Amino acid sequence: MATIGIFDSGCGGLSVYRELVKVLPKEQYHYYSDNAHCPYGEKSALYIQRRGRFITEFLLDKGADIIVVACNTATAAAIATLRAAYPDVPFVGMEPAVKPAALGTRSGVVGVLATAGTLKGSKYLNTRGLYEDEVIIAEHVGQGFVELVEAGKLDGPEVEATVRASLQPLLDAGADTIVLGCTHYPFLQPVIERLAGPSVRVIDPAPAVARQTLHVLEQRGVPIGKGPFSVKLCSSGDPAALQRIFALVAGGK
Ligand code: DGL
Repeated sequence: MATIGIFDSGCGGLSVYRELVKVLPKEQYHYYSDNAHCPYGEKSALYIQRRGRFITEFLLDKGADIIVVACNTATAAAIATLRAAYPDVPFVGMEPAVKPAALGTRSGVVGVLATAGTLKGSKYLNTRGLYEDEVIIAEHVGQGFVELVEAGKLDGPEVEATVRASLQPLLDAGADTIVLGCTHYPFLQPVIERLAGPSVRVIDPAPAVARQTLHVLEQRGVPIGKGPFSVKLCSSGDPAALQRIFALVAGGK
């Protein structure tokens, strides 16, 4: 049985956890929500690197065989320093799904929703650089999205207005494909899809990250699939937000 550590600035990483349990249903999970320090989006890279070190120690203490950085912002700011500091520990990070979006767009315009930290990170900029000769890439920060999800607000007029403000500029630019570049955003996907309409495809990279985690565990020879399944949740702040979204995920949403 593998022990899988997952962390995010809050409950957003549960969108990755929900895909992980589909491909690795019999493992032991430890999820750390750093909601006392959320959002990470506007914090300095150094701040996020320090939080990443602290949380990595916590998860290793729980016996983690692998750490999934289920946060695009933390991946951008800290995964390289974490890999350097813990060379024996496998880390799996988030990939902005620009490649499938660029390959699939018919309008030639891809929209990316992410945090400010992710959009200015070298990982994203390098990925964008690979495709921007072929397609137009329009970007927008999902302003207020993380706060909505942390507050358990996933639908209704306030959510629609907040989502529309960041989504509309991408639709106006002609995007027919929207990449969700923050792990909180998939919890707003039903609203995003409703507002964008049926001709727009919305891509959540979480299934690909889950498959990559399985691949790394297999490569390392970590025994998997033996069970029993278990999950432990931990929050640096009020646990209510995490419990609320976890209940949705556990209920199959
Ligand atoms: N879920 C994090 C991400 O993927 C949230 C960002 C934040 O805390 O601002 O980027």
